[in-house]
Amino acid sequence: MATAAAEPEETVESIVTDVSETPHDWDVSKADIYVEDRWQPIFREMRETAPINKITGSGFGDYWNVTTLKPIQHVEALPDIYSSSFEYGGITIGDELDDIPEEFRFQLPMFIAMDRPKHTEQRRTVAPAFTPAEMKRLDDDIRQRTAEILDELPRGETFDWVDKVSIELTTQMLAILFDFPWEDRRKLTLWSDWAGDVELANDPAMVEERIKHLYEMAAYFKELWNQRLDGPEAPDLLSRMIHSEAMRDMDDFEFMGNLVLLIVGGNDTTRNTMSGYAYGLEQFPDQRAKLEQDPELIPNAVQEIIRWQTPLAHMRRTALSDHNLFGHEIKQGDKVIMWYLSANRDESVFERPDEIIVDRENARRQLSFGYGIHRCVGARLAELQIRILLEEMAKRRLRVNVTGEPERVRACFVHGYRSMDVELSEY
Ligand code: HEM
Repeated sequence: MATAAAEPEETVESIVTDVSETPHDWDVSKADIYVEDRWQPIFREMRETAPINKITGSGFGDYWNVTTLKPIQHVEALPDIYSSSFEYGGITIGDELDDIPEEFRFQLPMFIAMDRPKHTEQRRTVAPAFTPAEMKRLDDDIRQRTAEILDELPRGETFDWVDKVSIELTTQMLAILFDFPWEDRRKLTLWSDWAGDVELANDPAMVEERIKHLYEMAAYFKELWNQRLDGPEAPDLLSRMIHSEAMRDMDDFEFMGNLVLLIVGGNDTTRNTMSGYAYGLEQFPDQRAKLEQDPELIPNAVQEIIRWQTPLAHMRRTALSDHNLFGHEIKQGDKVIMWYLSANRDESVFERPDEIIVDRENARRQLSFGYGIHRCVGARLAELQIRILLEEMAKRRLRVNVTGEPERVRACFVHGYRSMDVELSEY
């Protein structure tokens, strides 16, 4: 894990720009450009001409765009200057609380949106659930469930890959992680959808409904918690929390917040990588053929697909003090948006970045999991689940053929697909 990096010695001239010349259409907080899949040239232009620039007067207020790999890693390596804390606005571009009536305002504390030292303590509690040894333990179960789903998929007819495969597999993975009652597992999907929708959180009309679902989730988990309270130490996530110093005495809000983090954190992201696998390889049939001929390429292809899809388009930080970021005067209180979606297309790091190249040498440099002290704690589990999907597809010599344009998510945070019609064939 990275610790705070030293200040950069050199000033990178090419990334200093006059922000007054920033074109209007660089406001990449607009959800339309993602639902219409036309974000690529906008970020490319920024990377070429002004990789760090400031947008004023957007629907989310003023914010800095950081669009290339090196400055994003730099920001993430300075967590004492660039805060993740919910107290200053948290980790997404929306400030969430502005439009919500006072009585419904609550922001859930969760460790992704905390700074040190509390972040460190809570992260330490859940991190052992994601060690290589734990992944080995979960491998068989996840593989068997994945195989069952693939064997039940319709052959020779169109179906929705997002619902039947991406959502189902991800939900099962989370149920295994929490040792959640199997028959109720789709509740995890429902709660995750309600909790994770940033746009919804800003809609006063929907806030009450959302809170209702969150309380239902908390009550359900509380019951499980109580059932396991006197039980032996077990490897599921709830038992780990129960038996930990840092998390056993969480108040109700913190309990809810951290559940939401683990459920949402693992859900949309892994789901959209699985959908990105189907859609992405359809765009690059020569690469699909290469992968089909050589299954040894699967682990690298997993990294490449995660890079190409980038399931979370951005994370946000808030400056706690003035700071010169490669020649740009960031002021205390400024909102800094790190666009992973763009950094993963950084031409100075990735050759022909818009293409999927399954044997790309440096696919592992992808930034989809972030960097530094908040780097995704569930990354190994996500990689495992996606690798198993690709391996089980290869064993069955199954190919996904996308039969129409998918419906995309309208958001500048979660980057993915709502539905995608496909047909399976064998090769
Ligand atoms: C392809 C799938 C995934 C992607 C792209 C992804 C992406 C991310 C990103 C970008 C961050 C923030 C990093 C930063 O601020 O530097 C993060 C943090 C986190 N993720 Fe993931 N994630 C994925 C899967 C998962 C899974 C499967 C889980 C757990 C079940 C999970 C749980 C978390 C948690 C708990 C954090 C907070 C870590 C911290 O603040 O220390 N994620 N993830």
